[in-house]
Amino acid sequence: MQQPTRIAPSILSADFAKLGEEVRALDAAGADYIHIDVMDGHFVPNLTIGPDVVKALRPHTGKPLDVHLMISPVDPYLDAFAAAGADIITVHAEAGPHTHRTLQYIKSLGKKAGVSLNPGTPLSAVDYLLDDIDLVLVMSVNPGFGGQSFITSQLDKICELRRRIDALCKDVPGRTIDLQVDGGVNFDNAAQVINAGADVLVAGTATFANGAYADNIMRLKNAG
Ligand code: DX5
Ligand code: ZN
Repeated sequence: MQQPTRIAPSILSADFAKLGEEVRALDAAGADYIHIDVMDGHFVPNLTIGPDVVKALRPHTGKPLDVHLMISPVDPYLDAFAAAGADIITVHAEAGPHTHRTLQYIKSLGKKAGVSLNPGTPLSAVDYLLDDIDLVLVMSVNPGFGGQSFITSQLDKICELRRRIDALCKDVPGRTIDLQVDGGVNFDNAAQVINAGADVLVAGTATFANGAYADNIMRLKNAG
């Protein structure tokens, strides 16, 4: 069953010279999660932050830190991100050969485990992972940068994933798998993305537009 829309602002669009202040502002503006984009310059053609920055941001908000690892290999860094205070750790199915084991390990650390699919990756990549995870992050841009355009072909993937999650969870009381969508989500397409089946919208550019964090978050949340 699709859940009420939550908004996870991506701090990739924040002012990196004052990230703590930005996280506090997002928290106060009603963000449900703080989406933290970790990039290694290898899995994606950009380089952002590591576990020490996540650790520094942890005291600035009580909201879940939703850490999106666009890195490969990912296993050597899981302990550090968990210790830094990540609540959700999402890894890319494309980042390595042992995604199932990686997700099991994240769960063993007491964190929520997510798997992310690049736009070109078929839904079949999660066929044998859905039973063990808390969320699927559908990339609606090719990962690496904020401010890109939404890839509309992903709407079909979102619809099909919604159907699969609902079929899997309907007979398991309390079982939920969040369907997160990440990349190019804005005021023009948010309704479509929600109506396709998204539970959580990740938004960088749209959240930070004109500095109106609270209004932007509210507009996205009520778009469905
Ligand atoms: C892209 C990141 C996204 C991105 C979203 O690789 O994973 O989270 O920052 O930013 P917008 O909303 O500007 O596309
Ligand atoms: Zn992201």
